Amino acid sequence: MKRKRPAKIIDGKKISAAILNDLRDEIATLNRKGIVPGLAVALVGDDPASQVYVRAKRRTCADLGIASFSYDLPRNCAEKRLLKLIDKLNADPKVHGILVQMPLPKQISEKRALEAIRPEKDVDGFHPVNVGRLLNGEECFAACTPAGCHALLLRSGYDPAGKHVVIVGRSNIVGKPLAALLMQKAAGANATVTVCHSRTRNIGRYTREADILVAAMGVPEFIKPRMVREGAVVLDVGVNRIPDASRKSGTRLIGDVAFAGVSKKARAITPVPGGVGPMTIAMLMTNTVKAARLASEGR
Ligand SMILES: NC(=O)c1ccc[n+]([C@@H]2O[C@H](COP(=O)([O-])OP(=O)(O)OC[C@H]3O[C@@H](n4cnc5c(N)ncnc54)[C@H](OP(=O)(O)O)[C@@H]3O)[C@@H](O)[C@H]2O)c1
Repeated sequence: MKRKRPAKIIDGKKISAAILNDLRDEIATLNRKGIVPGLAVALVGDDPASQVYVRAKRRTCADLGIASFSYDLPRNCAEKRLLKLIDKLNADPKVHGILVQMPLPKQISEKRALEAIRPEKDVDGFHPVNVGRLLNGEECFAACTPAGCHALLLRSGYDPAGKHVVIVGRSNIVGKPLAALLMQKAAGANATVTVCHSRTRNIGRYTREADILVAAMGVPEFIKPRMVREGAVVLDVGVNRIPDASRKSGTRLIGDVAFAGVSKKARAITPVPGGVGPMTIAMLMTNTVKAARLASEGR
């Protein structure tokens, strides 16, 4: 039987605005101690999508009163130059968080760049020390998009405890860290997690079992209504740009979930855009303020 009511829309814009608003109080407390949280963002090259992301991060910093330090390096920048910059930022007490925008041009090893960042300043949560701590359930910086998915669930009243969460996608930046976050023996986690990927046979068999389904593949509208259980909560991490002649830009963004059909079956669902996307920046700001607080406590 089909659900009679359409799914509740999980509004990432509203929830991320509430998270950023909560951060203002914490920033004010730090300011009273003479501390201004600082985020350094390094962008190498002129990839248009990266430029858009970096601008949005810098704008949000400015809006919150987080000091933003910008480093725009040319596309042909040598790895050595970037590593030297990271060293300098590691040593700068005004910089609490360091973000190197990915992807990097091919002459620079992403692994070496990420590992050069001190784990205490790794607000993107990609350093192996933070990844390991996350898996161990220790204090760490969790990657921003998975942390954003987790926050969306909790702030919308969908505690994953005891629920079967099925994640489609096993990347290091979304699927794997999200699985690690949700499987922890900890308040707000305690989920049973299944992770699917391109080698999973008959994905629908798993997705139909999900109380909470997370699509993080980068395949437009892959998740069809027949793959979703009635009453499931669906998070769509996918961001896919497709041609659309009716738009001035000639394109539009869609997710990995066939929203129109799935929203008739799901209990709640995130839209694209306006769902998981805005949460990523909110969690980056949260991590930066946390880094400043921990530094002020000498940790
Ligand atoms: N909203 C945000 O802030 C945000 C942040 C990050 C990413 N994203 C979006 O999220 C999506 C995923 O990003 P990502 O960086 O995780 O991508 P990725 O590194 O390309 O990983 C994609 C994952 O999906 C799996 N996959 C691909 N096609 C599949 C298929 N047909 N069936 C089953 N599994 C399939 C891949 O399996 P294999 O491992 O077997 O290859 C892989 O694990 C993209 O659309 C990206 O733009 C959004």
